[in-house]
Amino acid sequence: MALQFISAEEAASLVKNNDNVGFSGFTHAGSPKVVPVEIAKRAEAEHAKGNPFKIGVFTGASTGDSIDGALARAKAIKFRTPYQTNPYTREALNNGEFDFFDLHLSQLAQEIRYGFYGKINVAVVEACEVTESGEIVPTTGMGIMPTICRVADLVIVELNKKIPRELRGIHDIIELQDPPKRREIPIYEVQNRVGLPYVKVDPKKIRVVETEQDGEGSDFTPVDELTTRIGQNVADFFVGEIKAKRIPPHFLPIQSGVGNIANAVLSAMGGHPGIPCFEVYTEVIQDAVIDMMQKGNISFASGCSLTLSNEVFQNLYDNLDFFKKRLVLRTSEISNNPGIVRRLGILSLNTAIEVDLFGSVNSTHVNGTKMMNGIGGSGDFTRNAYLSIFLTPSTAKNGAISCIVPKVTHEDHTEHSVKIVVTEYGVADLRGKDPRSRAAELIEKCAHPDYRPLLREYLDRGVKGHIPQDFYACFAFHHALKETGSMLNTDFSKYPRM
Ligand code: COA
Repeated sequence: MALQFISAEEAASLVKNNDNVGFSGFTHAGSPKVVPVEIAKRAEAEHAKGNPFKIGVFTGASTGDSIDGALARAKAIKFRTPYQTNPYTREALNNGEFDFFDLHLSQLAQEIRYGFYGKINVAVVEACEVTESGEIVPTTGMGIMPTICRVADLVIVELNKKIPRELRGIHDIIELQDPPKRREIPIYEVQNRVGLPYVKVDPKKIRVVETEQDGEGSDFTPVDELTTRIGQNVADFFVGEIKAKRIPPHFLPIQSGVGNIANAVLSAMGGHPGIPCFEVYTEVIQDAVIDMMQKGNISFASGCSLTLSNEVFQNLYDNLDFFKKRLVLRTSEISNNPGIVRRLGILSLNTAIEVDLFGSVNSTHVNGTKMMNGIGGSGDFTRNAYLSIFLTPSTAKNGAISCIVPKVTHEDHTEHSVKIVVTEYGVADLRGKDPRSRAAELIEKCAHPDYRPLLREYLDRGVKGHIPQDFYACFAFHHALKETGSMLNTDFSKYPRM
């Protein structure tokens, strides 16, 4: 049947107040760009007339500004899940303007299918090709695309002509059966393909909006001295693990989190003579992976998105034949699947906001209250990795805050899952250590030297029990910050000993 082409404005008019809308993509990669902006305009127009207009927003992960930024500024969001990085969304959710539900990214597609969040009415997805038989070829990120396309009554496809159709073949798309019918996922090696290169949808549900919208490429800050030192520490640690025969000589697949530290770590690994060419099984494929592939440091990468700068995108498009043999894009249900993570023996690398002396990690809430981004895929990987590694600078806010604290103010990853912590000062190996030894390891190897005396003093308060946690004193760090602007001014003597 012939496809129905409509304008972005017409597409937005098909979305109703209170609808739940699922968007394709993972980060800005693969996220639709023109229809969500029209939905935001529509919300503003309805609000101006005194009418309510808000939607539920379901995505793979964070999105570009054209979804989160535009909708948050238009006050068009009633509910948002599962992860965001946009400053407008962050401010609005922290002000309680809409409900934000933070969950592990691997779980969202199945929980939508289970019906935990009500019906998804409309799917808005970006594609580089759509056929009359209903084959939709995604672009550079997928997220929850097959699930929202199947469960929604209406599928609006942004056909983006700026993105080459030759991407067809890079994707590997399956949707899992739900219990009790679920079977094993036959991915035994990073490069295994088990699905189709497109999402298949009943063409009667499809409306196509043609666009030539540019991507919203990522900006990476160049590696600096601090991130280089963290990267070098990670690379040296891996070399030691190979020598100790705890990592095989041909290595294990790497998962690397988002942001500049992750990019710096990969770069340090690429330049290290003791690290062999390796594979990547991750959610976000960043610039460093593409560069290292061309240099022969990375042989294959599986991910949920190509979250690249515009310059690196151009390099990828110019050399698609080379990269299509070395890349596969999967849905978040598969890229972050806990069973596959455990089967492949992933080495996971994620960034922490703060780490406590006993090994628990806060990835999400600054001072225990303000949401930064969300847990993302860090939990999917950390709980199931062969080795779960957390990276953080030793201090934040120009040294006023220690990122190694007595007790995390919010706990995303417990000491049962976190194995290794790395700062610019060194590597704390928490494996097989009791709580007091873990604390000593973190203080002496990872904490900033300015904070070591204070952290030692905290441990030396003579608290009995398996974990020498002193609940009066641990908040002294945060009180000091509030009162004096720096944790260095912590005075434990004000707090009674437990
Ligand atoms: N206390 C207070 N503020 C802190 C802090 C601390 N201990 N540590 C960091 N911050 C602040 C920084 O100062 C910065 O503030 P600013 O935005 O006002 O400049 C902000 O938090 C972000 O810190 P930054 O150093 O820029 O971090 P980042 O971009 O490397 O991101 C996380 C770090 C933890 C927020 C990010 O990695 C994340 O969202 N992780 C969770 C999801 C995840 O791990 N995904 C990957 C899984 S595959």
